[in-house]
Amino acid sequence: MAYVALVPAAGSGARMGERLPKQYLTLAGRPMIHHALATLCAAPQISKVFVVLATDDAEWQHHDWRVLDDKLAVLRCGGETRAASVRNGLQAMADRVGAEDWVLVHDAARPCLTVAQVDALIREVGDDAVGGILARPVADTLKRADSASRIAATVSREQLWQAQTPQMFRHHRLLQALQACVDVTDEAGAMEALGLQPKLVHAEGTNLKVTWPEDLRLAELILANRET
Ligand code: CTP
Ligand code: MG
Repeated sequence: MAYVALVPAAGSGARMGERLPKQYLTLAGRPMIHHALATLCAAPQISKVFVVLATDDAEWQHHDWRVLDDKLAVLRCGGETRAASVRNGLQAMADRVGAEDWVLVHDAARPCLTVAQVDALIREVGDDAVGGILARPVADTLKRADSASRIAATVSREQLWQAQTPQMFRHHRLLQALQACVDVTDEAGAMEALGLQPKLVHAEGTNLKVTWPEDLRLAELILANRET
C-alpha cells in the first residue's frame, strides 16, 4: 500500500488581505507553501506529493522548486472551494495511484507540519478501515454569540476536537465521499456524511493554519525556533 500526499493550494487567502494568495507569501525566506511541501517530500513513507493549483495560477512558475524532491507533481485543477480542489486533484491523480492507496490531504497553509507528526498519523491510523486525521482537544472555554456579539451561551468543550491536516483516507473512498458531498470544509466531513467515523490522532498545537495576518508571524517564530 502506497502513501501519497495531496496539497490543495488553489485558495485566494481572502482573510489575509494581501494581493498574493497566502500560500505564496514569504515565510522564513520561502513561499509559505514550500515548507509543507518540503516536509511531505522528506517523509520517507510518502512516495509522491501532488499539489493542486488554481487553473489561473500565475505565481508558481516564478519560484524554483528544484530544491524539493522529484516526488513533487503539479496539478492545475483547483476548484471554487477547498473540497472541490481536493476532489479535482483526486480525479486528476487517479491514473497514478491505486484505489486502496492512502492519500494524505494537507493544507498549503499549514507550514509548520513536521515529519514526526506525519509519522505519528501514519502509524496510529495503521490499517484502519476508515482513516484518520490530526486533531487537538479544544482547550479554551467556548461561547456561542448572539448577533450583537454578546454571549448567548457557554458550550461544553467535552469531547470537542479541532481538526487539522493531514487527513488520510484511501483514494477511492475519499473520491467517492467528495463526489457525494462537496459541502464540507474537510475530508473527514465528507467521510462522516457517508456514516463513517474517522480516527482522531493527537496533534501538536504548532501545526497551525495561517489564516489571519498575525498567524504568519507566529508561524515564522515556530519555524525559526525549530532551526536553532
Ligand atoms: N484551497 C483550495 N481551493 C480553494 C480554497 C482553498 O485549494 N478553492 C486551499 C487553500 O489554498 C489552503 C487550504 O485549502 O491551502 C485551506 O483553505 P483556507 O485556509 O481557507 O485558504 P483560503 O481559502 O485561500 O483562505 P480564505 O478562506 O481566507 O480565502
Ligand atoms: Mg478558504
